[in-house]
Amino acid sequence: MSNETLTVTDNRTGQTYEVPIVDGTVKAMDFRQMKTGEDDFGLMTYDPAFTNTASCRSSITYIDGEAGILEHRGIPIEQLCESSSFLEVSYLLVHGELPTKDALDYWVYTITHHTYVHENIKKSMEAFRYDAHPMAMLLSTVGALSTYYPAAKDIDDPTERYMAIVRLIAKMPTLAAFSYRHNLGLPYVYPDNDLWYTGNFLSMLYRINEPKYEPDPRLERALDVLWILHADHEQNCSTAAVRAVGSSQVDPYSAVTAGISALYGPLHGGANEAVLRMLHTVGSLDKVPAFISSVKKGEGRLMGFGHRIYKSYDPRARIVKQVAEEVFAVTGVNPLLETAQELERIALQDEYFVNRKLYPNVDFYSGLIYEAMGFPVDMFTVLFAIPRTAGWLAKWEEMVCDPETKITRPRQVYTGADVRDYVPMTARG
Ligand code: ACO
Repeated sequence: MSNETLTVTDNRTGQTYEVPIVDGTVKAMDFRQMKTGEDDFGLMTYDPAFTNTASCRSSITYIDGEAGILEHRGIPIEQLCESSSFLEVSYLLVHGELPTKDALDYWVYTITHHTYVHENIKKSMEAFRYDAHPMAMLLSTVGALSTYYPAAKDIDDPTERYMAIVRLIAKMPTLAAFSYRHNLGLPYVYPDNDLWYTGNFLSMLYRINEPKYEPDPRLERALDVLWILHADHEQNCSTAAVRAVGSSQVDPYSAVTAGISALYGPLHGGANEAVLRMLHTVGSLDKVPAFISSVKKGEGRLMGFGHRIYKSYDPRARIVKQVAEEVFAVTGVNPLLETAQELERIALQDEYFVNRKLYPNVDFYSGLIYEAMGFPVDMFTVLFAIPRTAGWLAKWEEMVCDPETKITRPRQVYTGADVRDYVPMTARG
């Protein structure tokens, strides 16, 4: 008998089974053989929210939640933030290796020259209500992009897959900036292909009538680092959504729309927006203890705290704090910073948070930076969706090429009524 097995005794029947352990996992399907009789369907595993279920193999991102480690393709996030750029990290996520200089130049050139969108996309965005949430505009417009690239349905064609990846990474800042301008009632600004990815984004947001917008290089770099931090994060909720929807072999624009929808929620990417709203509600330092007490009573959550995987300080939150200092040196300090720091200080000492291993996550400080940079709160999750597109697509490509991929289709434990007859309306009480 090999050591790499699990022996299971089914006490209902007294029968013993030996199940292989591979890479620290057992296959849920190996439990199906455990039956009480011929008519029994067999054992299933029950794991709502997939808290202990690996749904795929992936070679893209590694996280050790206990130790607070995050690596992309083996490279620690700290090194990427220090030395790389968002577009280089996108290349790394999608291709698996750091690019040569020529490969990076070509990648940047290609992304830069796909930033424009069809004029009809612009017109369809103009049709939204004046106060439409930019995240809702983004998710429906990315879905609409699929109508402009019908060839992307051919997901078995590597060229089509590559073009969809390039187009989505390239166009996401354009769509995001259009949604911002829409909310302000300002004319949309077309991409400026002379500028770097983040500088071009700032230009599309803030340019008025100057012939050439010149982004502040410090803000351009700060945004680049924030986007490296948000580019990918293992099998998070939105990535799982992209994979689940993509597993039906739908086109990647539709699959990414599912990711944007998932990211929109306040327990995921929407947390950065929720943190800012929470800080405004708390208002001042003296209200912090009362707010913490209300959270402990279950009257709400301390947004930007806690994580399904990190049970120690989120390594991204540490870097975000450094970026905050760099941005505040340019923009002036966000007055809510003190309130956030006091919330963090009290929470990190309080046994409620300590016992549950709740630490600040990436979103606790990112909203403060975005607000200081002049972004309205509604835009925060959009700023997350732009870089996460690279991670979604790297995972989507990995899934499409994985011979183990099947359509995602979980099981359920049925808890409804036993079979019964239809009752005519006249006979119902
Ligand atoms: N504030 C107060 N209590 C919390 C918080 C919080 N932010 N997060 C978790 N808890 C408590 C729960 O009430 C629960 O307590 P209990 O055991 O007494 O019932 C315990 O900690 C475990 O919480 P779960 O909800 O079971 O943890 P889960 O792993 O399912 O949730 C999540 C993780 C959703 C991130 C959660 O911590 C949360 O809601 N945080 C606030 C929202 C947030 O910041 N989300 C962003 C995450 S990062 C990202 O998506 C980019």
